[in-house]
Parts: sequence; structure tokens; C-alpha cells
Amino acid sequence: GSDLIQKTDEIHRETLLNLPTGKGWMTEHLVQYQGFWFSPNGLKNLMWLHDHFNPRPTDIFLASFPKTGTTWLKALVFATVNRTRHGFSDHPLLTNNPHVCFPFLDAYLHEKDPSFLDHDGSPTPRLLSTHAPYALLPDSMTANRRCKFVYIYRDPKDVLVSKWHFLRKLRPQELPPLSLEEAFELFCRGISHNGPFWDHVLGYWKASLELPEKILFLKYEDLKKEPFVAVKRIGEFLGFPFSLEEEREGVVENIVKLCSFENLSSLEVNRTSIHNFSTDILVDNRHFFRKGIVGDSKNYLTAEMMKRLDEITSHKLSGSGLLF
Ligand code: A3P
Repeated sequence: GSDLIQKTDEIHRETLLNLPTGKGWMTEHLVQYQGFWFSPNGLKNLMWLHDHFNPRPTDIFLASFPKTGTTWLKALVFATVNRTRHGFSDHPLLTNNPHVCFPFLDAYLHEKDPSFLDHDGSPTPRLLSTHAPYALLPDSMTANRRCKFVYIYRDPKDVLVSKWHFLRKLRPQELPPLSLEEAFELFCRGISHNGPFWDHVLGYWKASLELPEKILFLKYEDLKKEPFVAVKRIGEFLGFPFSLEEEREGVVENIVKLCSFENLSSLEVNRTSIHNFSTDILVDNRHFFRKGIVGDSKNYLTAEMMKRLDEITSHKLSGSGLLF
């Protein structure tokens, strides 16, 4: 185990030396690798994934660009898939942050022995999430047609504003704060963890058109508008359809209520505990819950900024068939 970790470290150091760098949001800089931007440790996690991860055909992956609704979708999928295991009065989501119930594949890895995942004893199906772009996932995850992906995207204006707030709280005190204007420029130029945002979305979108039974494409704004419809689609897609009886008993409503912003953000665990992604990334759970609404970006971005982001979006997505 430790030899492998050392080897990954060495290759990682060599790779880093030759990559273009850009200003970082949280760490000092991001590096560009095969067209996408990562923190140095983020890239290391991706390398780990390639070298050591063995998916099982029953695995369910949640993929997303950061700040698009990952935490919420984790809760919804966990509650849907495990609904016969847990009652709503003593549900694990009432005492655990969603990131505990549905861990990141690429955040708890590089510090651990690679065999860790194979022996973790987590129930089937394993629920694992990633922020990695589709094109950079290992073949083992994409070529196996049985592993399913659930992907979520969101209006990039709200993603930018959510990300700026979030990383401002996480940025080390030693570094000067990142202004919204700077963050905006970086985001527009694609310099953002796992960015460019648009390339991330398009990668999964194209894959979902080719493999509709493998990738379910969801939009934050649609989940807000019709959460019941979304939960039913998730259940159906993942092979856990809701029976008529369950629907009559209000199971879908209970899941939506359990995972609502109001409920999750008011829980003791999400108000006071800290989530430990790795030794260098500790996040107060409350930071995962800010406002949870659609369109908050208009309270922060100027009309000009909004227009520019919308223009980039329509330019980048033209002809793709994807609507924002
Ligand atoms: P805002 O900063 O706009 O409020 P991610 O989970 O990918 O990091 O995304 C975080 C965003 O999702 C934040 O957006 C957060 O408030 C919102 N969010 C978290 N839990 C939510 C929930 N249960 N329902 C709706 N939005 C939620």
C-alpha cells in the first residue's frame, strides 16, 4: 500500500512541474490537465482513481460540478435507494451530513491505502460521488455499462456565486481574499475546480445522449420546481421504482421533506459539526447550506456580468440541445 502511495506521489510531483497554472480560489493555484483545471491535490485524487479504483457493476455514481446541488442530490439518492432499510424517524440523514452517507470517491483516497474501498463493507449498491469531468474518468467507470451515473447541473450564474461564497469561507486566512470580480473572471475563463464549467456539463450531456440508460441528467432548477417528479425519476432510473402503494403512503413526499433545504439545514449535525474530507480539507457542515434558492446571483452580479455569463453559456452550448 504505502509503496503505491509513494509512487503516486512521485509521478504526481513530476506531472505538476509541467502543467500550466492559474490563480486558485482556495489554494494558491490551480493546474490545467488535459483541458480541465484542478487543485494539485484534486489532480492527485484523479490519478489515484485511475490507478486503483475497481468499480462494481452495481455501483451508483453521482457526478457534478461543485456547487450545483451535490449535497441535496446525495441526500435524495441515498434516501431513495435505501428507503426500505431506514425509517423516517431514525433516518441516518437526520444525524449524518449527506457527504458521510454518500462519500466522494476522489476526496478520501490519496491519503489512504488503495485497498480501502474494496474492503469498506458498505452495502450494495455502493454510492460514490465525483466532481471529475467525464472525459477524465477511468475507463473502468465509463466502459462498464452497468454502473449508473446521476448528474446534476445548474445555472452557472448561481454556481459562480455559490462557489465564491463557499470558497471564501474555506480559503486560508494567510491568503488575500478573492474578490467577486476576480472570481468572475476566473470562472469565465474556465479556471475553476474541474472547470471549465461548460465543458464539464457538455461532457456528461453528450455521454448521456449516447448512453441514456447509464446517465441520468438532472437540473437543480427542475428539482426545485418539481422535486416529486425528480425523486420518482431517480428511483425508476436506478432500478428502485416506487410502487403505487408507496406513492399512496406518501413515501416520495417523505423523502422530499427529509432532504429539503429547510429540514437538512436545521439539523443539529448540519449546524454544528465539521466534515473531514481529508487532512487538508475540513468544512463546517453549515457551509453546504447557504440559501438553496434559484436566482440568488442577481443579488451579487451586475447586469453586465450576468449578460456576459449568459452569452458564454449560449455560445458554448449552441447546437448541443441542452437548455439552461
Ligand atoms: P447556494 O450557495 O446557492 O445556496 P453543492 O452541494 O454542490 O456544494 O451545492 C451547494 C448549493 O446547494 C448551495 O447553493 C446550497 O445552499 C444548495 N443546497 C444545499 N442543500 C440543499 C437542499 N437540500 N435543497 C436545495 N438546495 C440545497
